[in-house]
Amino acid sequence: MGRTVYYTASTLDGFLADEHDSLSWLLRQDVDPAGPFGYDGFIAGVGAMVMGATTYRWLLDHLDPADGWPYEQPCWVMTRRTFPAPSGDVRFAAGPVVDLLPALRAAAGERDLWVVGGGDLAGQFADVGALDEIEVSFAPVTLGAGRPLLPRPLDLELLDVARNRSLVCARYRVAGPLAASVP
Ligand SMILES: NC(=O)c1ccc[n+]([C@@H]2O[C@H](COP(=O)([O-])OP(=O)(O)OC[C@H]3O[C@@H](n4cnc5c(N)ncnc54)[C@H](OP(=O)(O)O)[C@@H]3O)[C@@H](O)[C@H]2O)c1
Repeated sequence: MGRTVYYTASTLDGFLADEHDSLSWLLRQDVDPAGPFGYDGFIAGVGAMVMGATTYRWLLDHLDPADGWPYEQPCWVMTRRTFPAPSGDVRFAAGPVVDLLPALRAAAGERDLWVVGGGDLAGQFADVGALDEIEVSFAPVTLGAGRPLLPRPLDLELLDVARNRSLVCARYRVAGPLAASVP
């Protein structure tokens, strides 16, 4: 079985997007997709994906319809809303992520399950002990406010680090809930 991994980019102060869901701060970064922690290597190892409704809405709003849906892998969108019929292999679901895990893992097979985001969705997987790793690339930007990277108290183990041009990239194992501090 592959990993369940939250692969994302973040500002240095821990935001995925600004309060208006803008990613302009990220899209202007100098990044090598074929470099360390780059998208090309990551997506080649992904067997299935799951994302939240805001992230899906962002994709619908920003993709060129002429290009079609950009992912070959089956993609689940967690939502209670109704969206137009998808153009790719997109499946809608709602409710506890634990109920969906068997289907997600079966679809991913030996490859990774990519938790695309947002942060709370990644947290829902962590809540049930189903998030194995986090790969995050930090851009040299602070926003002060926005959509949080991972709004949960967790202990992580640093497994790997690299630089990809303007980004500082790190891979963590999710060790579990944050240990209680010693008084
Ligand atoms: N920096 C990056 O690399 C990166 C990566 C990913 C995302 N992003 C951006 O970050 C922002 C994330 O937005 P967000 O924080 O709102 O998170 P999100 O996960 O994209 O969307 C949250 C919404 O998903 C639905 N949802 C989540 N869990 C659910 C469940 N278990 N059952 C049913 N519905 C569920 C709910 O919507 P409804 O109930 O309304 O349907 C919820 O309001 C977006 O702007 C996205 O584009 C950036």
